[in-house]
Amino acid sequence: MLGFIAPTRPDWLPRVVRQLDEVLVDHAHCEKKAAGAAVSLLFRCAGYPSFLEPLSQLAGEELVHFRAVLGILAKRGIAFRRQRPSPYAGRLLRAARNFEPARLVDEFLCCALIEARSCERFRILADGLPDRELAHFYRGLLAAEARHHGVYVDLAAELMPRPEVRARLRELAEHEAQVLSEMPTLPRLHT
Ligand SMILES: [Fe+2]
Ligand SMILES: [Fe+2]
Repeated sequence: MLGFIAPTRPDWLPRVVRQLDEVLVDHAHCEKKAAGAAVSLLFRCAGYPSFLEPLSQLAGEELVHFRAVLGILAKRGIAFRRQRPSPYAGRLLRAARNFEPARLVDEFLCCALIEARSCERFRILADGLPDRELAHFYRGLLAAEARHHGVYVDLAAELMPRPEVRARLRELAEHEAQVLSEMPTLPRLHT
């Protein structure tokens, strides 16, 4: 279903497997940021009452994921700590248009792409990690992230006709692939 995003390069998995602790800490940060992004959109969307339920539900689910990753870290004796973040999300959002409602549409679609990329990476981890417990954990997150992708696309489609949303999603997906190709080789979910 997420075939519109450029596939991850084959060297990503071997690179992150070597520094899995770093990736798990990054994953916790990503879930926290995903919750924060949804909450900040809740504030932006005060004038769209029908957006409040899906965004608050999504924020709540991201916090559940955050706590689940914190649980994995605690079980493995890995400290949650500050980390140099991947510049991925910031660069992705630079493509957002600067007038409304196009800006909000683009922010929803950038969030949709981040969810799609997370989903793709979780699948790679679920299929490729030798650690069976972690592989199982990532398989369990796939459905939620794919659904979050759909929630954000549906929100964008409340603001603009769906064919326009689909066309813009394709444009932003090309930008996302470009951004990803320029990422530093840090052990992060989005590099
Ligand atoms: Fe999540
Ligand atoms: Fe998500």
